[in-house]
Amino acid sequence: MEKKAIFIVGASEHAKVIIDIIEKESVYEVVGLIDSFKNKGEEVLGYKVVGKEEDLPELLKKHEGASVLIAIGDNWVRHLVMEKLMNIVPHIKFASTIHPSAQIAKHVKIGKGVVIMAGAIINSESVIEDFVIVNTKASIDHDGLLKSFSSVAPGVTLGGNVTVGNYAAVSIGATVKHNISIGNHAVIGAGAVLLKNCDDNAMMYGVPAKEIRKRETGDKYL
Ligand SMILES: CC(C)(COP(=O)(O)OP(=O)(O)OC[C@H]1O[C@@H](n2cnc3c(N)ncnc32)[C@H](O)[C@@H]1OP(=O)(O)O)[C@@H](O)C(=O)NCCC(=O)NCCS
Repeated sequence: MEKKAIFIVGASEHAKVIIDIIEKESVYEVVGLIDSFKNKGEEVLGYKVVGKEEDLPELLKKHEGASVLIAIGDNWVRHLVMEKLMNIVPHIKFASTIHPSAQIAKHVKIGKGVVIMAGAIINSESVIEDFVIVNTKASIDHDGLLKSFSSVAPGVTLGGNVTVGNYAAVSIGATVKHNISIGNHAVIGAGAVLLKNCDDNAMMYGVPAKEIRKRETGDKYL
């Protein structure tokens, strides 16, 4: 099958992982990287930066029908870039990519702009909304709901029926008990064991996890 053209927006380390997934998935052919902070011609894993976000309309004329994938790990920044791209190219097509080693169970729904990395497990009837990142070896048990622009870091374990709010991040190695709800813009810290619901804009960590402080929308956590 002929591969479809794709541009990757963001030429950072996160992009390296995404390039590998795209190559292994063999659905898309990377035709260029877009990065407003790098010079044209700079390379990541053999792929060239071909322009800035503002250059996308011209580039999409050359590669008609090409999709775009945003390779930005920070949930809030990924959202801001998505909005910028929608303004520049209103009919933009956002792609998702899933590593072939990920295990996706029956009746799982996966939105657009999603990245699912190597070794991830997503169990039955879970919903992965738009622009979510399911990082390496993370596991989401049955009926999970990862709302738009949320992320689970490498090695995260979510029990069944866990909800992760919009823009919320579950950090590396954290474990979340079944039936727990994590609010919008919340951050669960590295290695935490979350046994209680987490409010919107709260940061919780520790074993068992406690609320450490509130955070402002867009505060850095990576
Ligand atoms: C939750 C998090 C953002 C907190 O960061 P922070 O607010 O900058 O915290 P600091 O690094 O300033 O640490 C403040 C204190 O809290 C402690 N602390 C921070 N995170 C902690 C955690 N997850 N569990 C236990 N203690 C933690 C620190 O050891 C430090 O203690 P000290 O004052 O006694 O030295 C960070 O721990 C985290 O999990 N980041 C995400 C990492 C991740 O997932 N990376 C992979 C992405 S692919």
